[in-house]
Amino acid sequence: MDKIKIIGGNPLFGKVYISGAKNTALPIICAGLLTDEPVTIQNIPFLSDIKSLNALLLQLGTQIEEKTEERNGHLTQTITYHTPEPTSLIAPYDYVRKMRASYYVLGPLLAKYGHVELSLPGGCAIGARPMDIHLTSLEQMGAHIEIKNGYVVADTAGRLKGAHITFHSASVGATCNILMAATLAEGTTVIENAAKEPEIADLIDILNKMGANIEGANTSTLTVHGVDKLHGVTHEIINDRIEAGSYAVAAAITKGRLELINVRAEHLQSPIDILRKTGVTVEPTDNGIIVDAQNATLVGQDIYTDYYPGFPTDLQAQFMALMCIANGAAMVTESIWENRFMHVPELMRMGANINVHGHASAIVRGVDKLSAAPVMSTDLRASFALILAGLVAEGETIVNRVYHLDRGYECLEEKFKAVGANIERIKEPD
Ligand code: EPZ
Repeated sequence: MDKIKIIGGNPLFGKVYISGAKNTALPIICAGLLTDEPVTIQNIPFLSDIKSLNALLLQLGTQIEEKTEERNGHLTQTITYHTPEPTSLIAPYDYVRKMRASYYVLGPLLAKYGHVELSLPGGCAIGARPMDIHLTSLEQMGAHIEIKNGYVVADTAGRLKGAHITFHSASVGATCNILMAATLAEGTTVIENAAKEPEIADLIDILNKMGANIEGANTSTLTVHGVDKLHGVTHEIINDRIEAGSYAVAAAITKGRLELINVRAEHLQSPIDILRKTGVTVEPTDNGIIVDAQNATLVGQDIYTDYYPGFPTDLQAQFMALMCIANGAAMVTESIWENRFMHVPELMRMGANINVHGHASAIVRGVDKLSAAPVMSTDLRASFALILAGLVAEGETIVNRVYHLDRGYECLEEKFKAVGANIERIKEPD
């Protein structure tokens, strides 16, 4: 397993091109299963999660054609997915285990082909990650669902039926799955308490371009009038607001100045508000933001993670790293996942002063400096938080288990090196 070595102390200056959004690409790629025509997706990031999903789709019989092209100032992937007729309707354990978002094949395969077998993904490091909303909603739409040998086996006689569904939590994954399923259902489906994350609006955009009839994008009530058939399209996915927020913290924590290109500031309103309150200047540009902390005196701010447009859980660890070296105290509360403080013990090994209360809250008392250490984490965002801590720590930090970062941060060392970080990957034989 590769490692990342960082020697802290360099403020970061320059430009970072933000990549296509991982969490948008994953459901949108699966939306291609709703049609037997080719669907071309532009701006797909080079990430191991995308490779894992592609491997599953190949196994289902999807034909995949990949092209690298320059878009929006940097290299991106354009991939055409074509599933004229699936060769399998089974998403096996080995694929789903590697990448839980494989569960996005559930809604599309059931709606289009009337049957699907999906290995249950189970929990992961950040929490139990149940699928009850996905499954009960599909049952409300007439699906017959059984759990057999660790698999969800779902069938529908004829088309799924439109239904009025109220989610008990505004789940991103369930909103995507049920939206996709509802596009080909008979009649109208209404989803109440749907997720409002920008990823959902982008999914609605491509589905409508494919011929679906969905109303209510960016609101918590989505209405889907089912249609008989969807067709192929070309669609460019939005850029990654979480990657952008992560690099914004890199500028702040190193007291540098970064221009983040390909960012929509409105997708980051809550993190930008916190950065400003912390003392960092954030200015919008035509196609991004400039984050400037050169003259900032950082002051700790409380953070409460919540559903969009609240503060994203996927930036909690990175902002906690920032609060570790800000003046004063910051209360960080995680309301989405029950176990998302794995970075805390590692940050403390680097000299941070953090007191965790139960599973949900942590008080961070700012310290003058962090010191380097070998660290590791069990989650993608926590790993980035450790990189951030390494960028300001005195000495040489080694971040282990880099495969987490490769799942969600494209060209991480290259992007950091280009703005002055002293960072390198240490290749280890498998
Ligand atoms: C998505 O996960 C993201 N993953 C996560 O990002 C992100 O943390 C999360 O949304 C919240 O924003 C992808 O998009 C691939 P949820 P998802 O269903 O869809 C509860 C990252 O770092 N819930 O919105 O799996 C659940 O327990 C990852 O990139 C149920 O109770 O999350 C949680 O408390 C990590 N029953 C809450 O809803 C269900 O059936 C939100 O989960 C489903 C969810």
